[in-house]
Amino acid sequence: MARPSAQAQLTNIEKYRSQVLSHPLVQGISPDEVRDHLAHVPRERFPRVAYANRGPDPCIQPRGGVPLFETQYELTRQLSQAGADFIPLTIDSYTRHNQYETATQLLHRSEEEGKSYLNGYPLISHGYELTRQLYCGLEKPVSLRHGTPDARLLAEVALASGIAEIEGGAICYCLPYSEGFPLDRCLLYWQYVDRLCAVNSTEDRPIHRESFGPLTATLVPPSIAVAVEIIEALLAAEQGVTSFAVSFGQTGSIIQDVATATVLRKLTRYYLDEFGFGPVRSYLVYHQWMGQFPAERERAAALIACSSLISSLIAADKVVVKTIDEALGVPRPEINAEACDTVQYVLRTFRSAQTVTSPMIEREMALIESEVKSILNAIFEISGSVFWESVFRAFQLGYLDVPFAPHADNANKLLSVRDGNGSIRIADPGGVPISNEDAHLEKELVEGRGDRADKTYRQMLADIRVMV
Ligand code: 5AD
Repeated sequence: MARPSAQAQLTNIEKYRSQVLSHPLVQGISPDEVRDHLAHVPRERFPRVAYANRGPDPCIQPRGGVPLFETQYELTRQLSQAGADFIPLTIDSYTRHNQYETATQLLHRSEEEGKSYLNGYPLISHGYELTRQLYCGLEKPVSLRHGTPDARLLAEVALASGIAEIEGGAICYCLPYSEGFPLDRCLLYWQYVDRLCAVNSTEDRPIHRESFGPLTATLVPPSIAVAVEIIEALLAAEQGVTSFAVSFGQTGSIIQDVATATVLRKLTRYYLDEFGFGPVRSYLVYHQWMGQFPAERERAAALIACSSLISSLIAADKVVVKTIDEALGVPRPEINAEACDTVQYVLRTFRSAQTVTSPMIEREMALIESEVKSILNAIFEISGSVFWESVFRAFQLGYLDVPFAPHADNANKLLSVRDGNGSIRIADPGGVPISNEDAHLEKELVEGRGDRADKTYRQMLADIRVMV
């Protein structure tokens, strides 16, 4: 039995670091100089400080990354002026997949032709010295947004650049994004990233980690997302991370959003305390609709406004925003800035005074909580010498099963559909160890949906494309 424990901490990170830092593209990074740089980065650039100082509304976080330094510099200022509380640095796909040479070649081509050949900022190609200059005078946290299974080098360069928030995690960045990257290797590489964040943290300047709860953003039952988020918080805490945000994506049902937020917040705290990680601060992040977006800008704007309101209703610490051009691809800087402004408008105008509840929300909360506890308790019982091994085994056993994940290690036995209220229900749990009572209740709720007789491909598409 391997329960989360601080004993699992990587003690020889220095040895691994010298291997990682011997990469020809990053020579010159000195761990001592990086720590010293971070000690002089303004405190406002650390998420813990930004969260502590936030007003009644959730902080606003856009995404954004362009290949050229000058354009990224402009984008940073534009987003900040438009009301972004967290500044994004979204990384291009080649860098995410460790193809640094290709990223560098396409950066040069983008520079020569004045056109974007990359879908984000190639951080490793630009290097930390130049990237530090992006943030001169900035007093807001910068968030590294990527999707990288092996983010060791990327995290090194990000911290060296003075970036104090690293998004991602072994499960959330591996299962939805890659088919063939071995999950056990991913778990080990993310231990490195978590430990790296911990060794670069000080009491008043903790490097913050954030997990990506939307996963595949396609009919993921709340209990699966909540279980994964808590596991990633525990894995980070094991390595000494003291500032961590769990997150989830808008489900398509307001009832489920409110219930998920409440349970996620409560159980993250509960399990961190349970395993001796009381000092770890946890935060809640809400992702605006991560599924297919309507192509019509008016509808996209309406959807964004509704998700903004929900983020306020659930008292999220931060909301990650979409733009009206989501259906078309990577947004232009001005559209991205407009999105921050619109979200800020909605948050200011419709401040929600108190948490809402209702009998349906109460029932949903009880169901999610019960399922999460069953899943986590089953995982804690799996034999193994360390917790991450149990987590790896949990996927092999199908205890954790993420709908529509392309990954080879995912069981794909769990079947989810929407009920009559648009809530995501577990029609068949596959190997996921929820109790018989909970499985029965899930089925009953699905049957309440009038059109369930039509179990067709068309129906599944309608469940997935609920917002379009
Ligand atoms: N700039 C802005 N947004 C981006 N996204 C991906 N790359 C970028 C980028 N370089 C957004 C997508 C989607 C989400 C997953 O990230 O539009 O909303």
